[in-house]
Amino acid sequence: MPPVLFDPDHRLWLLRGPTTAYAIRLADDDTVRHVHWGATLTLTEAVKVAERISPAASSFEAVAAVDELAVEGGARFGPPSLLVRFADGTRGVQWRYAGHDVDGGHLRIRLHDRHYPLRLTLHYRVCADSDVIERWTTVENHDDRTPITVLRCDSAAWAAPHRTDYRVSHLVGGWNSEFQLRRTDVAVAETVFTSRRGVTSHHANPRLAVDDGTAGEEHGEVWSTALAWSGSWRITLHRDPVGRTTWTGGFGHEGLTWSLAPGEALDTPVFAGLYTAGGFGAASRAWHGYVRRHVLSHPNETRPVLYNSWEATGFDVDEVGQIALAARAASLGVELFVMDDGWFGARTGDHVGLGDWVPNPVRFPNGLRPLAAEVRRLGMRFGLWVEPEMVNPDSDLYRAHPDWVLHMTNRDRTELRNQLVLNLGRPDTAEWTHAWLDRLVAAHDIDFLKWDANRPFTEAGWPGHGDPDRLWIEHTRAVYRIMDRLRADHPGLRIEACAGGGGRADLGILARTDQVWTSDNTDPVDRIDIQHGFSQLYPAQVMGAWVTDSPNAATARETPLRFRFHVAMAGVLGIGGDLAAWTDDELKEAVELIAAYKRIRPVVQHGTAYRLRGDGTLTAVQYAHGDEHVVLAWCPTRPYGHATAPLRLTAVRPEVVYRDTDTGATYAGAVLLGSGLPLDLPSGDHASTLVHLRPVG
Ligand code: GLA
Repeated sequence: MPPVLFDPDHRLWLLRGPTTAYAIRLADDDTVRHVHWGATLTLTEAVKVAERISPAASSFEAVAAVDELAVEGGARFGPPSLLVRFADGTRGVQWRYAGHDVDGGHLRIRLHDRHYPLRLTLHYRVCADSDVIERWTTVENHDDRTPITVLRCDSAAWAAPHRTDYRVSHLVGGWNSEFQLRRTDVAVAETVFTSRRGVTSHHANPRLAVDDGTAGEEHGEVWSTALAWSGSWRITLHRDPVGRTTWTGGFGHEGLTWSLAPGEALDTPVFAGLYTAGGFGAASRAWHGYVRRHVLSHPNETRPVLYNSWEATGFDVDEVGQIALAARAASLGVELFVMDDGWFGARTGDHVGLGDWVPNPVRFPNGLRPLAAEVRRLGMRFGLWVEPEMVNPDSDLYRAHPDWVLHMTNRDRTELRNQLVLNLGRPDTAEWTHAWLDRLVAAHDIDFLKWDANRPFTEAGWPGHGDPDRLWIEHTRAVYRIMDRLRADHPGLRIEACAGGGGRADLGILARTDQVWTSDNTDPVDRIDIQHGFSQLYPAQVMGAWVTDSPNAATARETPLRFRFHVAMAGVLGIGGDLAAWTDDELKEAVELIAAYKRIRPVVQHGTAYRLRGDGTLTAVQYAHGDEHVVLAWCPTRPYGHATAPLRLTAVRPEVVYRDTDTGATYAGAVLLGSGLPLDLPSGDHASTLVHLRPVG
């Protein structure tokens, strides 16, 4: 059965994933209308659903059906996905259908304005192995003389079917508190989720899940969507009093305008959507599968255990100190050594040197070669922290090129963390940035870059440019291009996305990076929540998680080393503590725990994740890979000292007997599914356990 079907009599398209269907139709006025997004349907059934859509009954509601990409124009009063103004002052669009084509799972529907030279292509892409539907749009100015002003151009609008109630699940946060999951009723209103910061942001992640108020972790219908864009973005969720819930999203925030030059076409990023009938857990697992198969470049690789120097040394890095740390890290079993901030220019603090990407001659008198060589001799790969989009005013780069930053002629240049943002929309700035990164990677055969971006945009002007708001698109595109080019030229290079912690996690950046630095907050208790939110969309294999010192630098909370390890083992394990200060007992325990992680890592990084519990006193995650299972359970606090109830597992086979690879205890699958796995947790707060189960025999 082909993934895209067309019924010419009813002018209806049906897109089919393995278990779901999505249907749209052309209305009499040639606008594309939404028909169905949910369980699988035949073409005949979809036609029946389409026929059910009744016209509106009131002079105040002329358009009853939901548009696939609402424009301004006619009797439409909801949030438009496409807003344009033509040179003569006319706003809005009236479409004429200009045909469609299907290329495998890719459907393109072409619409032309009836009078003006505006053309639109609605793109839909489905794959045989995923229920995720990728959607985006192309707008084109088909005139050869006059520009068209684009006030809004979203990638897609999505619609949930008519239900009596709706909830939205979304991710909020801030620096040190990213990915907090919030689940609230959808207001009968327009609710805006956005970043005006030039990066994805810590504050809101461009991912929404809508349900009718009854879905749970493992049951119920969920309509979830995620935008593949790493700059400013906006998603507007609209619930009307009649009961329709739709949401439209794309790049840029409100108030920006883009001029579409004669002959120019603008492609939006992908806004992907997924319907699942198995609750939030099934939605996450389907997204994880999609990210692995269709977003990540190296999904089958196993991410190495890394060491990062930041929390140990801050800006105080030098050859001797880093070599000493590297020796300790290697003796623990670390596989990748990453030197963080402070290695270049005059960078002895956050006020100076950013932009001067040459090794600091006092700290590294012989350049980085001796350190890189020693790291390799110790059997590890070598990585470096970089922040290519930023500059300190106190730097040689800024003194030479003060015009390279985002700025406005008559406005102050607001500094955050004593730095300004380079305008990578400028070809010269982008070219320079690519050149130094390329040189750096080539000169030291760098295996890994931690690519940071430590402040949002302000005074985002581009003096002298005719269409300055373009920088909100072009900067992000330049970051993508530089990463893509570096990766193409240096196939061994792996990149970690970071923006002051988890400020840049999205499907766009994941297409050219391998992991995300989840948060600067490495407190394991806080991390349980952060990781819970992160896992809604992103798989464990991209979730960077370090074990750091106790008390924690961010929260001053004291926790046992084992607990810190067990929390970090839920993702890509890293070590970020000051190893010089760890006791012999701690180092010995760390050796054992890193070895244990390496044994479970294929299951964690390549398996399927089930969030078994998450209620403040006990959070547990199970990973299943083939017939192997890993359970990580964490109790931040033990009210009344009560013992924890056994944990009922999922995805094990009832007829199989499993052995705990550590204790040797055996359990029948049926018992693990029924009464559950007894948890052997130490007493007191911050208790945790790791259980690795393999079939007996
Ligand atoms: C950001 C990152 C940190 C660290 C510092 C270095 O805050 O999130 O992990 O790299 O920058 O300045």
